[in-house]
Amino acid sequence: MSQLSGVPILILKEGTEDKREKEARYQNINAIMTIAETVRSTLGPKGMDKMLVDGLGDVTITNDGAEILKGLDIENAAANMVVNLAKNIDEQIGDGTTSVTIFAAALLKNALELTEQDVHTQPIRHGFKLAADKAIEIINKIEEKISKDDIAILKNAAITAMNSKEISMLKSHFADLAIKAVRQISSETTFDKVGNIKIVKAPGKSLKDSEVIQGLYLEKSKASPVMPDIIRNAKIAVVRKKLDVVKTEYDAQIQIFNPADMQKFLDQEEKMLMEYIKIFKGVGVNMIVNNKEVSDKFAAHLAKEGIGAIKNLSEDNLKAILKAVGANLVDDLSSLTEADLGYAEKIKFQKIDNDEYTLFEGCKNPKAISIVLKGGLKKILDTAEVALHDVLNVVAKVMDTQLVVAGGGATYMELAKRLKTYSNEVSGKEQLAVLSFALALEEIPKVLVQNSGLDEVEKITLLRAAHKTDADKWIGIDTITGTIENTFKKGIIEPSALIKHVIKAGVELSNLILRVDRIIAAKSSSKGGLE
Ligand SMILES: Nc1ncnc2c1ncn2[C@@H]1O[C@H](COP(=O)(O)OP(=O)(O)OP(=O)(O)O)[C@@H](O)[C@H]1O
Ligand SMILES: [Mg+2]
Repeated sequence: MSQLSGVPILILKEGTEDKREKEARYQNINAIMTIAETVRSTLGPKGMDKMLVDGLGDVTITNDGAEILKGLDIENAAANMVVNLAKNIDEQIGDGTTSVTIFAAALLKNALELTEQDVHTQPIRHGFKLAADKAIEIINKIEEKISKDDIAILKNAAITAMNSKEISMLKSHFADLAIKAVRQISSETTFDKVGNIKIVKAPGKSLKDSEVIQGLYLEKSKASPVMPDIIRNAKIAVVRKKLDVVKTEYDAQIQIFNPADMQKFLDQEEKMLMEYIKIFKGVGVNMIVNNKEVSDKFAAHLAKEGIGAIKNLSEDNLKAILKAVGANLVDDLSSLTEADLGYAEKIKFQKIDNDEYTLFEGCKNPKAISIVLKGGLKKILDTAEVALHDVLNVVAKVMDTQLVVAGGGATYMELAKRLKTYSNEVSGKEQLAVLSFALALEEIPKVLVQNSGLDEVEKITLLRAAHKTDADKWIGIDTITGTIENTFKKGIIEPSALIKHVIKAGVELSNLILRVDRIIAAKSSSKGGLE
């Protein structure tokens, strides 16, 4: 820094640009508010859809926050941070991307207003932190403990998550599918391995025909066309071994000088193949799953014995198969025993249109399964898949934590009310920040009301007034019927973890942005902002 006639000036490296604190803040917050504006109208059951058009002109119609944000081409670094926040909640909770974006933007908008009244960012950040901690404390107190076997609650939570999705006309059916699937793959203690539920999209008449199967559905064809189409009482060997003697595991060159040697080599090859088949037959295998190559010759031999096979599976599919059929992975065939084999009542190789599938059905207590989504249009199947992702995660989260709160804005209204009371205990400028935080929480119910075309001022005033005593904690608004009531009783239910995450992530982002007092963009960087 140098001094020139009493005015401090910053000397920056050539090619850098400095923006004054206020301007930097304004620019960042504005960028985040713009992102929030994009998804705002999609929140809740009455939310609108967005049409995403990519560079190739391909169109996706969705109202899923995560999908919309993924599709945006964003240059601004602060805006990117809110997108990452949404991605993070999608990974951790599987739902709530729109809510977290709206809340973070509301917090920052309110903070900006405070700074315009000359409140420094330090007490704002401190006040926000106090409010967030208090909000979590309140949720811990008011949340409802449920049993993981409470199917009615699980179903309500699943339906709430689906209320805002396009497949909402089939929500009961999809809720049942999701609950069945998560319960199937769960052990007593883990409910969050939703990755073990493979969603497969298959052509069919209607989404209503979608189903959970007691096993897996893979987009894989049989290793040889002459293998049987159906294998019953399948005893399945899952191996990681090249079943191909010509191309050995290592690159060896075999030099053959005369026809007799050639014959000897072929005999040798034949002998090895027969050796393998003997091992498989010895333990009663009638199906082989391999993530390596199976030669055509070997596959033909297997077919002759009535043994089926699929080959070159991805690691991911291999893991799923092991969990589905209950097999042990075998690398060394000589150690294969009956105990390593998995089981499926039926394996079916199917060709639908131009795609080939292998279906493992009737597995015993499978820990990886498929949900087969059926429908005529690819776009509908894609939309259903996105919605199912949210629902599966919500069901798993509720089973895992066994803690829920009411949706339809009820929890946000109750938190806002209690934080307003709490603000009286907070001194200094922090008190204003706590109040701003409470108002930012009300933004979610406000947007739900706005999106349903109801009168925002009227409904929010009614909601505030309705939260009189602790017994009123779950009064929210059902925007499908337009009524203010106990939404918990109505079955509008969300995982408590979702709201906690929205609050924690929102305050983290707002405080990070409020700490920034300069945007310095180096010339070499193609992106603007904070990176
Ligand atoms: N019948 C209903 N009446 C009012 N609000 C509802 C109803 N059903 C669900 N909601 C609310 O809708 C909100 C969720 O909307 P939405 O699913 O569009 O956004 P999100 O979960 O934040 O983001 P996304 O699902 O896009 O990741 C929650 O606050 C939930 O309580
Ligand atoms: Mg949602």
